[in-house]
Amino acid sequence: MLTNALNHPHSHYGVIGNPIGHSRSPLIHQAFAAQTGLSLIYTAILAPLDGFEATVAAFRQEGGRGLNVTVPFKAQAFALCHTLSERAARAGAVNTLIFPPNPQGDDIQGEIQGDNTDGVGLLQDFAFQGIKLLGKKVLLLGAGGASRGVLAPLLAEQPAQLRIANRREKTAQALIADFADLADKTAFTACALDTIPAEPFDVIINATSAGLSDTELPLPEALIHADTVVYDMAYGHEPTVFMRWGQARGAQAFDGLGMLVEQAAQSFYLWHGICPDTRPVRDLLRAT
Ligand code: ATR
Repeated sequence: MLTNALNHPHSHYGVIGNPIGHSRSPLIHQAFAAQTGLSLIYTAILAPLDGFEATVAAFRQEGGRGLNVTVPFKAQAFALCHTLSERAARAGAVNTLIFPPNPQGDDIQGEIQGDNTDGVGLLQDFAFQGIKLLGKKVLLLGAGGASRGVLAPLLAEQPAQLRIANRREKTAQALIADFADLADKTAFTACALDTIPAEPFDVIINATSAGLSDTELPLPEALIHADTVVYDMAYGHEPTVFMRWGQARGAQAFDGLGMLVEQAAQSFYLWHGICPDTRPVRDLLRAT
């Protein structure tokens, strides 16, 4: 007999990716649940690289109610959805899957809803850290799913300039074409990573996956001035290679742990209709 979360003492949620062992999302969601008095299970789920859809289907069969999606499955999650939020449709990527109970019965799987909370998570963390973009010169490194997910909210902050630099320039140019309609207040340009003009930027965001292999990006020294902020959307136990690059040149550096907590809080809200307080969970993560 199929089970349903409504019949369970706990509703089941999770984060799906490959690799997934490093994920802090279970800790974050369990902390949110404890804080808000909800009873739920949230686990890390490893999907084979060629088995994302099957793993999601099995999770739903077991009564799973929602999934966070991480590397490398956000585009596949997007393709799986029957309905998408406007921001997920814009991003072309989904990091939050919602499986509402099917009114026709447990044995018929209902529609899959998709959203993307990465962009709002980044902006929430910027607000928390006091990083302002209005009228600023911003450099976004990378043009993959992570960049695509945050571009609309970045442009909504109306930086004076937003330059996307990517190893393959063509991919960065494609992002310019896709988001140009949102850039009426911003000089919105693209270039290759190795042709970034040697001039200072106020905020430099790393959305490449180069750090996963400890690769230092080939960036000009002149990108940093006295008040430059560098922000790595990745995080680890130690400051990332990109953060260390910025710090060594006098920049203030942040990792993506705050963004992770904020996007999780937004997903939590989508699933449970409750906004958790992110501050104690940030503190918990920094302490562990
Ligand atoms: P994600 O969803 O994390 O963005 P992705 O879509 O695979 O993952 O994108 C990875 C990004 O990191 C891309 O911008 C990629 O550059 P290319 O489009 O040229 O491949 C960038 N990237 C990955 N490894 C890199 C490296 N060693 N040096 C520079 N850029 C790198």
